[in-house]
Amino acid sequence: MTKTQYLASFLPTTLTPKTTATAYAPANIALSKYWGKRNRELNLPTNSSLSISLAHLGSQTTLTASDIDRVTLNGKNIPLEQAFAKKIFAFINLIRGNHEGKIHINTTNTIPTAAGLASSASGFAALTLALNDYYQLSLPQPILSTIARIGSGSASRSLWHGFVKWQKGTAEDGRDSYAMPITTQWQDLRIALLEIHTGEKPISSGDGMNHTTATSPLYANWATTAEADMQTIERAIIEQDFHTLGATAEANALAMHATMLAARPSLCYLLPETLLAIHTLRTHRANGLPVYFTIDAGPNLKLLYAKPCEADITAAYPQAIKINPWTNLHET
Ligand code: PMV
Repeated sequence: MTKTQYLASFLPTTLTPKTTATAYAPANIALSKYWGKRNRELNLPTNSSLSISLAHLGSQTTLTASDIDRVTLNGKNIPLEQAFAKKIFAFINLIRGNHEGKIHINTTNTIPTAAGLASSASGFAALTLALNDYYQLSLPQPILSTIARIGSGSASRSLWHGFVKWQKGTAEDGRDSYAMPITTQWQDLRIALLEIHTGEKPISSGDGMNHTTATSPLYANWATTAEADMQTIERAIIEQDFHTLGATAEANALAMHATMLAARPSLCYLLPETLLAIHTLRTHRANGLPVYFTIDAGPNLKLLYAKPCEADITAAYPQAIKINPWTNLHET
């Protein structure tokens, strides 16, 4: 099944756009990672995953009826032939189909460039929510999550604040592969972004996971590890067991990187400074600071700690961007 066929199964035959619509979606960090697709066309994952959203760090997207298609990103016009604009319009065209109305897309990312965080998850989630409103589709949340997933897998989890779980599903057309929020909150849990290098990565996460699934002899064990880690993390959230959550998230990220390191040729997103930061963090931990890390398909560390340790984290990592995932949840 193609994306177009999937979307046609619930989109109306005639679209009735409003003149403008706007939506916000937060970025998210996976505590147990999505790594590998069982279906590349529909972005269907090999394993389920679980994330925490980053509250006010995300994407705000406004769609306005226009006489030409155009994209503005962080206040700058993006030429339509640029990869970013092409990707966005390819996604919009999946929904817009033959409808002739042109759109101005205005997106602002509130994720600081220095955070070394990808904005594709919040970007596709905000765009999906804005399109749902703009074309007055009134689609249910699980369907919206599957649509965001087609833009970028991790975007399926960026429709909500707090903890979010993306069930891999089993249906061939992917309609049961969507994310849903976990209602439990954890008011003391904090994230800090530790920038190692913020330049463009040499290989996208999509290409990285495809290469890993195709060539890594360690990939065969990944899905079982990932499902077990997700269950352990979910239990740790319910029991508010910080050490289990941190240790499992850290082990899960390293297991994901192990599958890449074993790919042929090897894929290594970790820089020398990443390894140095890992060892330094472990020294802090051995000295009594309860801090863990996770890493995505890049060199930067995301630290996990609890509010009572805020001052010690600031002292150890003065340059880190600290985030309270539970702030202003009702205002965004
Ligand atoms: O959504 P994508 O295609 O950018 O893939 C995200 C992959 C990881 O960030 C490494 C893991 C995850 O679950 O977010």
